[in-house]
Amino acid sequence: MALDPAFLDEIRQRTPLTSLIGRRHKLTRSGRNWKTCCPFHGEKTPSFYIYDDHFHCFGCGVHGDAITFVMQSDGSSFPEAVERLASEAGLEMPKADPHQEERIQERLSLLDVLEKVQAWYRRKLYQPEGRAGLSYLEKRGLNEATLERFGIGWSGDGRSLIDAMHQEGVTVEQLTQVGLLRVDDQGKSRGELFFNRVTFPIRDQKGRVISFGGRIIGDGQPKYLNGPETPLFSKRRTLFNLNYAMTAVRKQEAELIVVEGYMDVIALDQGGFKGAVAPLGTALGEQQLELLWRLSPAPILCLDGDAAGMRAALRVCETALPFLSPEKTLCFCRLEAGDDPDSVIQREGKQGMAAYLGAARPMADELFALLTAHEVDPGPERRAALRERLVALAQKIPDRNLSSEYRSTFLDLFFARFRRRRGLPMRQERGKPETRQLNGQLVAEGGTERLNIMTALLLRHPEILPHVEHAYMQLALPDPLESIRAALLDWAGQSDVLNEESCLLWMKKQGLENYCHSLMQGPLPRKCRVDGGSDDIFRVGILESWWHFYGLVNFVDFERDVQQSVQEAIMHAYSSAESEEGGEFPSAILARMRVLEALRRGEQLELDNGTDPSL
Ligand code: UTP
Ligand code: MN
Repeated sequence: MALDPAFLDEIRQRTPLTSLIGRRHKLTRSGRNWKTCCPFHGEKTPSFYIYDDHFHCFGCGVHGDAITFVMQSDGSSFPEAVERLASEAGLEMPKADPHQEERIQERLSLLDVLEKVQAWYRRKLYQPEGRAGLSYLEKRGLNEATLERFGIGWSGDGRSLIDAMHQEGVTVEQLTQVGLLRVDDQGKSRGELFFNRVTFPIRDQKGRVISFGGRIIGDGQPKYLNGPETPLFSKRRTLFNLNYAMTAVRKQEAELIVVEGYMDVIALDQGGFKGAVAPLGTALGEQQLELLWRLSPAPILCLDGDAAGMRAALRVCETALPFLSPEKTLCFCRLEAGDDPDSVIQREGKQGMAAYLGAARPMADELFALLTAHEVDPGPERRAALRERLVALAQKIPDRNLSSEYRSTFLDLFFARFRRRRGLPMRQERGKPETRQLNGQLVAEGGTERLNIMTALLLRHPEILPHVEHAYMQLALPDPLESIRAALLDWAGQSDVLNEESCLLWMKKQGLENYCHSLMQGPLPRKCRVDGGSDDIFRVGILESWWHFYGLVNFVDFERDVQQSVQEAIMHAYSSAESEEGGEFPSAILARMRVLEALRRGEQLELDNGTDPSL
């Protein structure tokens, strides 16, 4: 049985070679690609290279794609290999179809049909009836080489396509199949898709025309019309200009840039940015992201600078998060409101555009900016809701390390933005009346001493702040602990490195130096007084001590939080069980679980001045 090439393409697309081969062989990086010792001939140093869509061994010359890899390593036949990969990719094998062969032939001839139409549209642009189109394109600054490169044409008046194509042996049926003739639900003809439009051929990755887009000249609706879904053209799997962009990006001559429309791609290309692509009138989807990530670990998204562009950016982020990994992310380039890449290039030239692209920012920053764009002075409820939303977004990332990096980046940005500016008024908000009240509970007797120790621990080891910050914020603190906390959080929100030295410098500037010193000279848990450097085990000890005291002043919340984190971690491990990393339980949670157990058993921490703060 002949297999539909589109089905085989789908299998190849859904089977990343690195994971297929990486499952059985240890891969090492080689630039953008991976390599390993050749599975097909004995060797000690790797000469087997894995690219986006094929592998090649420079030692023995084997060469192929996912399907041939399975055939060669399992000794299976072509259909067997296809079947195995299809089932792994969750694809159903197409049913045996006696007409399959004909269909493939038909597909081929549909490509021919489109080539014929393309040549005809192209010719029309230079004929008298195409004059309006040509002068429009010239007015928009496109030069002859660009018109040629992109094959831009003229659709004619909408009444001559059938006749012209008839002379080339193309049937009405075929024109309908490629989407250039419209039919209603009953199959009745509704005329040509385009009339009086400039035409843009849409090409597949191999450069073959698979559909067209058409722009109206002047005002009118719709401004752009794209061909419908056909056996050749699937919008969600196509990116305009991917064929050219792919070549340029692979040769490292260009960065991969995603823009909104045809004219943006074309203007960028003419301006020297050869790696631009655009979706076709739809939001950027999952399959398009996968196509992009095969070419670049961090494509730049350059959307219009208006509200719609921001909404689009947010939507793309939400689509992308569940697929992010250290090798798959996005950068965002923001233009001024009212601009698109085309208008920037026209006005500010190549340099102007390069400046915007150079200022592209990483996804975490952009997401934060998008979510908080309208938050001027949010109250406690909004702030809490925002934090929740940020944390939930970070949790959508399956890669555990990356997810927690996003979480802490978001929280850092959050504090930098919503705390620093407010400064004093917030401190007064949470003033004295509350100090003895802790989420409805009274702080246990002897609490102040414990709060002192917790603060002293943070001053000596501010590197633990990100881990405890959430709980620390919930505490009702008496002054000066309250002022010290506000200063600590301000400082942490804007520091790259959290260490004692820079922390104390900051406290000095805030006039809190004396308080801090006296706190730090007070009692500390014995194991935290020694200088342990910055290794993780030591930090876990400090963390455990901090949680110990927190649990003592606020056992109910502590117990509930720990249980909740454990639940979340289990859910998270469960939902990402299929990813390749091992299932290690986060050490920060383990530390808190140990503390919880110790507190339940009534264990106490020994202090270096011999007193026992839990008495
Ligand atoms: P824009 O409206 O931003 O147009 O649509 P543009 O790219 O700036 O075009 P010019 O500069 O006015 O010529 C962006 C993209 O959205 C799709 C098209 O793919 C377009 O390139 N679109 C837009 C449609 O599919 N239909 C429309 O009616 C409008
Ligand atoms: Mn435009």
